[in-house]
Formats: sequence, structure tokens, C-alpha cells
Amino acid sequence: MSLEDLKREAARQALALVEPGMRLGLGTGSTARHFVDLLGARVRDGLKIVGVPTSEATRAQAESLGIPLTTLDATPELDMTVDGADELDRSLRLIKGGGAAHLREKIVACASARMVVIADETKLVDTLGRFPLPLEVVHFGASATRRRIEAAAAAAGCPGEIVLRTREGAPVLTDGGNLLFDARLGRIPDPEDLADRLDRIPGLVDHGLFLGIAERAFVATAKGVVVIATTG
Ligand code: A5P
Repeated sequence: MSLEDLKREAARQALALVEPGMRLGLGTGSTARHFVDLLGARVRDGLKIVGVPTSEATRAQAESLGIPLTTLDATPELDMTVDGADELDRSLRLIKGGGAAHLREKIVACASARMVVIADETKLVDTLGRFPLPLEVVHFGASATRRRIEAAAAAAGCPGEIVLRTREGAPVLTDGGNLLFDARLGRIPDPEDLADRLDRIPGLVDHGLFLGIAERAFVATAKGVVVIATTG
């Protein structure tokens, strides 16, 4: 099975949780793309749902498939968000934001009664941090903010390099127009402690740690889909 097959299989499992009338948060990234694609086919067959996209890319995909969309302002409470992750551990702690969308993804996930993660087995880790932690930062004072992030990471036991994300020599901007830094930490021994410290830095709009948010994950492996859940 290819990696794309595994991603699609995880997406298929999440699709089975979708019920008529649901208000759905639609994630971003290559795995969530499979979910939106499969959802589009169900909508074409008559399923009635409404979605809130977590990025302009997902909005474009959903629109092209004829999935009815709304906004969090019009629909502030959602039933379920389905999204990918860059890393997850067995306690359903996540790193997200590899696709630059973690702020909107977190807002949408937190507005949802449940967040379901879909991933292939390469995303499952014992300790978070191999994937660089994405950080959305406002332009004003970005260098000072970067220094505070560096200090916070060191104090949380995971010193590392904080690098501005660029593409073809220009800074990558989020859908909100902010900068992105990636924290190369290697290993985050205490994600809660790090998140607490990061949450107190002005200028850091949000970090890619999702703690206590996901309720269930479908992790597709070559041998089948593994379910990780916080509740029965
Ligand atoms: C987008 O910002 C991310 O949080 C994605 O959900 C995450 O990067 C997973 O993407 P893939 O499914 O493409 O690996």
C-alpha cells in the first residue's frame, strides 16, 4: 500500500462517522484532502452536511466538489472536525501546522464537539518534536518574539533552532498574513509545559501543539487502521 492509500484509508474511517445534518470542520493538508474528496462524493449522492474549511486551499477544494460551506461566524458550534496531523503520540497530543494552517485549524477544532485525526503510520511517534514545531508570529517585533520563543523552548527542556519559514527566498505567510517560524526541537519532553510558556509570549499568535483537543485518531498502517481514542 502506498502512503496515499494509507491516508485515504484513514479518511474513509472518519467518513463513516459523518451523519446527515452534521456541521463539519474540514481540515487542511494531503490527508484531509482525501477526506474532503470522499465527502464530496457522498454529498453528490445526496448527503446533507455543511462544512467550515480551515484554509483557503480547503475552501477551494470543497467548493469545487459542491460541498455546502458556512463560516464559524454563522455557525459557531460544529459537530466534528476531521483533520490530519504532522505528528501524534498515543495520548493524542499533536503537532500541526506543516501546511501553515494550524491557527485556523485549532480555532475550528476547538469550536467542534469532537476532533478526529486521520493519519498514516509515519505520523505516530513516542515523543513529539521530531517534526519542527510551527509557530505563527505577527510581523511587528518578530525577531524579539523569536528570541522569547527560543528562551521558552530552552526553559521547557527542549532548546533548539527557531527558523523563519521561507519559500523561494521569501517568507511563507499564513492565510492570516502572518509569518511562520519552525522550532527544530528534536524532542519535546513536556509538551504541556512548552505550550504554557509559548501561550504567554505576545506576538506569537499560536503554536502548532494541539493538546487535549483531539478525541480520536485513525492511524492507517500496512496491517490495518489503528484507532486511538481518549474516550470509549
Ligand atoms: C496544515 O497546517 C497541517 O496542520 C496539516 O493538517 C498537517 O500538516 C498534516 O498534513 P498532511 O496530511 O499533508 O501530512
